[in-house]
Order: sequence, then structure tokens, then C-alpha cells
Amino acid sequence: MNSPVESTPSRPDQWWRSAVVYQIYPRSFQDSNGDGIGDLRGIIDRLDYLAELGVDVLWLSPVYRSPQVDNGYDISDYRDIDPLFGTLADLDELLAQAHRRGIKLVMDLVVNHTSDQHPWFIESRDPGSAKRDWYFWRPARPGGTAGAPGAEPDDNPAAFAPSAWTYDPTSGEYYLGIFSPGQPDLNWENPDVRQAVYAMMRWWVDRGVDGFRMDVINLISKPAELTTGNPLDLGQGSLRRVANGPRLDEFLAEMNREVGLDEHNLLTVGEMPGATIEVAQRVTDPARHELNMVFTFEHVNLDQSSWSKWDLADLPLPVLKGNLAQWQEGLAEAGWNSLYYDNHDQPRAVSRFGDDSPEHRVNSAKTLATVLHLHKGTPYIYQGEEFGMTNAPLTEIGHYLDVESLNYHALATAGGVAEEQVLRSLAAKGRDHARTPVQWDDTDHAGFTTGTPWIPVNPNHREINAQSARRDPDSVFGHFQRLIRLRHDDQTVREGRFQLLLPDHQQLWAFTRTLGDDTLLVLANCSSAPAEIPSEQLPALDGAGVVLGTHPGGGESRLAPWESRILRLQPSS
Ligand code: GLC
Ligand code: CA
Repeated sequence: MNSPVESTPSRPDQWWRSAVVYQIYPRSFQDSNGDGIGDLRGIIDRLDYLAELGVDVLWLSPVYRSPQVDNGYDISDYRDIDPLFGTLADLDELLAQAHRRGIKLVMDLVVNHTSDQHPWFIESRDPGSAKRDWYFWRPARPGGTAGAPGAEPDDNPAAFAPSAWTYDPTSGEYYLGIFSPGQPDLNWENPDVRQAVYAMMRWWVDRGVDGFRMDVINLISKPAELTTGNPLDLGQGSLRRVANGPRLDEFLAEMNREVGLDEHNLLTVGEMPGATIEVAQRVTDPARHELNMVFTFEHVNLDQSSWSKWDLADLPLPVLKGNLAQWQEGLAEAGWNSLYYDNHDQPRAVSRFGDDSPEHRVNSAKTLATVLHLHKGTPYIYQGEEFGMTNAPLTEIGHYLDVESLNYHALATAGGVAEEQVLRSLAAKGRDHARTPVQWDDTDHAGFTTGTPWIPVNPNHREINAQSARRDPDSVFGHFQRLIRLRHDDQTVREGRFQLLLPDHQQLWAFTRTLGDDTLLVLANCSSAPAEIPSEQLPALDGAGVVLGTHPGGGESRLAPWESRILRLQPSS
């Protein structure tokens, strides 16, 4: 007999503090009907795999109705599933089947903007409509002829388009789209907008979802210049400058209250480009009832030399570990961290921070995971990271599909940047690396689809795939399973205080986690050369036991390339 069906898994207070989250980008996860696009039934088919990995929560990137200008981050109906991905009945089944396995489900919430096909926006196009003020409508700049080139209200570029303003001939005005013309920004100053969003969120909570990942949520409160209609010249890197507006905390607290986010013990994580530690301290302080945690961008913006992610820079290890340590310290008292390297917007961690050569891929993927998962906070795994998927061989512009990459290529080459340089930036940072299909096995389309995948499968799926990783206990997959289990079993991993050691060491990432008189020491060689352990600068290692290592043994005084060890120190008596 099976154990009784668990319909709604309980959500004890702060359950998310011991959880590991797995992000699914549905379009690239598993296709079930041969159209080359991943879908909800495909996810249902893979739930046993996710249970075997041991994760507690799934976060689904958007599956709502959408024209797919930005792969679903442009929503035209928040209360329905796009036919590409299935139906509401499929979603309900996914939820029930996940819950039956003790896995929770978190939805993506994209409410800084809608699609330009959303009924709210369509109505707003009419200047006389009650929804005109739900979006930002502005006339041409003084002296400009509406619709003529250069007459936009200001010179701010969009993230994925040359201008943040799109002309609408029906009313002779422009609307704001910080990301692209297909993603008009909602005006959160209008209380009706906020109530409509909260009602929609309650509808999902009633359906049984366990939380929300909130897309660019620190952009909902816009700077006063925008809300009052004055010109605002943001200049380059404009996104960051509209972030963290004056009413952000007020809106988040209101949302929490109105939707019952804390009351229902939901997981809430706010994606926050440009958020500082101070913003995160406020937003995640439990006493303020805003959000559980935020996604910082600081550590994924370190390998760039300007506000633009396309201006590549080297990233020395001390800079990366120093940044994570600052966030650990900043949120040590109140508040909580999220922990991630990878998501659908970032290149693959093993290619970016590790070494994806055949010699070092497995150990560098394991060691990067050891380091991240031993920080304090809630770890996020992005699909494929758990068996070491790498960047794809994208070498010409014809290989790219993502709106961000295509827009950057057009703008940069028109602006005189050499083609090779643009391609180098795209190859390092393009979002398509994260979006190639999950490599399930070594067959033609990697087990992702029986049809033609919407984006080509990485040819290295013959060697790198989930099936071969699952068969090998020494694989990256096996290591992730052990890290997840360790977090579940070990209170020091969950709650211990973090302290960075050897901050200037160029190869070693070393730190302790301490709870009462229990101390874990993490020693990780984040380089492709061997490294001596400088014992004299570390706590006494005598009698220390290896909790988990990437290599056999553990007593040696040097670490092999990309070797890491988690040690439990003898309590000092
Ligand atoms: C977030 C999403 C990204 C999307 C953007 C606009 O950054 O993660 O994929 O393009 O918001 O919605
Ligand atoms: Ca499909």
C-alpha cells in the first residue's frame, strides 16, 4: 500500500529556510507532444527525477498566456496557461503530483509589466478609458512631433529595445516599456492596479501554489520624475536607476497583507536588479512582512567592467567570495539570503566560474556547488546545473534567438563595435546558454523532444546528460543529492553563522559555519591547479572529520584542482 495521498503539504513557519529550490524553464525542460517546446505534461513526466534529486520546491518560469515576445515574461492572461504549455487542468495535475511527492510549487509573478496584448493594456490605449492611468502614457517631448524619430518623451533606452517609449498612433502618445515595447510597465501608483494584481495572486494561492518568484519586483515603484510625468534622463544603464523607488517597501508590505503571503507561509523571493544589501535588509526583515528573500545581482555583475553586462571583465576569486561574504554578513541578524549562480538569464556556472574542459568539468561543477550550498540561505538549482550542463557553442549571430542578444547585436554593431567583440560578449553572457534543452540522455534530441527542438540541443549531450550522471554515484548529480541531503540533515548548514577565511587567497574559497560549539570548515580549491592548504592560517584541523568531499581521502595538506572538502572540526574544549 502506498502512503496516503498528501493533498496539501503543510507549510510550517519559515519552512523555506531549510528548502532547496529547483528552477524549471518550462520551454526547455521536457516536451511531451513532439512540438519541440517543453510543456507542463513534460514536467509531470519528470517529477520522479526531481524527487530523486531531493529538491523541496519547484519554481516555474512563466507558463501563462503570452505572445512570447520575451518567452513568457510578457503575460496577456494571468489566469490561464498558454496553449504552448498545456491547460489549467495540467497545471492542477502538476501541483497535485508534486505535492504527492512532498514537493512544493512556486509560480513566477510578472507584474512590473504586462504584455501589450493584455486586455488591461488594450483598454488603456483608449485615452478616455478608466484604465488609461494603469500604464505610463506621455506626450512627445516639448517641440517634438509625436511619432517622429527623436520625439520620444526622453532618451532612455529599454533593456531589449532602443527606446523605453513606444508611440501609439491611436492617441498620439507614448507608453513606457522598460524592457521592450511588448512589455508595457504597469503604473503601481494607481491603487486599482495594485488591487487587481493582489486579486490575481489570491486566485493562485487558492489554487494551492506555495509561493511566488517575483520578476524585477524592485522596479514597481518608479522614481518621482516618472510618476509625475516630468522628463527623466536616466542615461545608460537606465534599469538600475528606476529600481528601488520610494514606495517599494510600502507596496510589498501591502501586497503581503492583502494576499496573505506570510499568513499562508508562502515562499516569496523578489528578483531585484540593482538592490543593495540595505534594500535587502529592509525587504527581508521578518518584522516588516515584505518578502522572505531577494535575488541580488551583485555577484553576477562582477565580471563586467561597466553598467553593461556585455563589457567583459576578469573576475578574480577574492572579489567573488568577498561579495558573497558581504551579503552573508549583511543579512546575518535579520533577513535571509537566496543563493544562486544560474538561472534562465545567466550563462552556465561551470563555464563561467568553473572550468568546463573535459578534465575539470565534473570537479569544478561539484566544487562550485559545495561552496554555494554551504552558504547560509536558500539554494536555487537551475535545470541542468545538477549534472553540470555547460554553455553552448554559439559562435555566430544566427545561433541566437533571445530578444536581448539580438537587440544588443543590432545596437552595438550599428554603433561601430566590431562584430568579433560583440560575438565574444554574446558567447560569454548570452541568455540562450541557459535555455538550450535539458540533456536527458545521449539520443538525438537528448530525450527532450521527438520533434525539432525550438532551440538546438547542445552537441555535448552525448557525454553530458542526466541519464549517465544518475548511473554514476561519483557524478555531479550524486554530489548535488548529497549536498541537498546534508542541508536537510544538518542544522549547522541551515542556520550556522558564516565567516569567510583567507579572503585574499587567489585559489581557495574557505569559510566556517558555526552553530553553538559545532563548526564546519569548507575548503574549496576554485582553480585548475593544485593548492597547498595554509594550515597555520586556519582553525586546527586535528581530529577533523570529512563530512563530504569531491575526492577520496581528505587528510592531505594539498587540494587537487577543483577539490573541495567539508570538514567538521573537533569542538575546542
Ligand atoms: C527578469 C526575467 C527575465 C526577463 C525580465 C523582464 O529579469 O528573469 O527573463 O526578461 O525580467 O521580464
Ligand atoms: Ca510541447
